[in-house]
Amino acid sequence: MKPEASIILCATLAELAKRAAEKIRKVIHDSTAARGICTVALSGGETPRRLYYLLGDEPFRTQIDWSGVQIFFSDERMVPPDSAQSNYKMVKEELLSRIPIPADNVHRILGEIDPAEAAKRYEAELKQTFANASPRFDFILLGIGGEGHTASLFPGTDALDIQDRLAAAVFVRKLNTWRVTLTLLVINNSRQVAFLVSGKEKAPIVRKVLSTAVPQQDVPASLVCPRYGNLIWMLDADAASLVKDEPWMTSTISS
Ligand code: 6PG
Repeated sequence: MKPEASIILCATLAELAKRAAEKIRKVIHDSTAARGICTVALSGGETPRRLYYLLGDEPFRTQIDWSGVQIFFSDERMVPPDSAQSNYKMVKEELLSRIPIPADNVHRILGEIDPAEAAKRYEAELKQTFANASPRFDFILLGIGGEGHTASLFPGTDALDIQDRLAAAVFVRKLNTWRVTLTLLVINNSRQVAFLVSGKEKAPIVRKVLSTAVPQQDVPASLVCPRYGNLIWMLDADAASLVKDEPWMTSTISS
């Protein structure tokens, strides 16, 4: 078990989404109070849908001051923003279209253009938002694929080794598609990274990642290890079903 990781365990995805919404509400409040800004990177996929919907609903919608929140994306599929495959489209439908956030605070990866150009423009927006310092996100939300990918950092792709760029265009052979992703350089510089994982089908990869403290190149999610930040695994009972009896489990569950 990674010594710096903590686990939040909830019975169902509905409860997990609520806990995650509460955590994000606290991150936004504390970061904005401390620095006048809160920088967040949101993942795509299906798991966070309910969380995003909750954040756009009462009471979270009104309780959160969205004016100081800068929203980025952990990754994007290289499709137009109105494509059913677009992470931006999902986040816009579930959250962005339902909260009073200034349009300039939402930093979309341009899925409709050349991948390398999209990565370059995304990196420029990151540099602009972080005033050319190394981007240190207040909160990055990630998911995990069954084979251990996270964001669009897939096993065997050269994006895993990038240490001089903030975002990268990646050709994912198994999907035969291009993606743009945040690099580990950015992810591991953040103040807080949370994996949101639900469902029995994710239990084997959760066990594989959590039961070893050693990062493994063939399991990109295991390479997520914030140097100066917190790593949290937010799991529902199904996703945690193969680790629930591990001795380290109880000691790492945070309230
Ligand atoms: C994406 C995501 C990706 C996702 C995992 C889990 O673009 O698909 O960013 O990294 O988080 O694939 O996806 P599910 O939540 O759908 O299982």
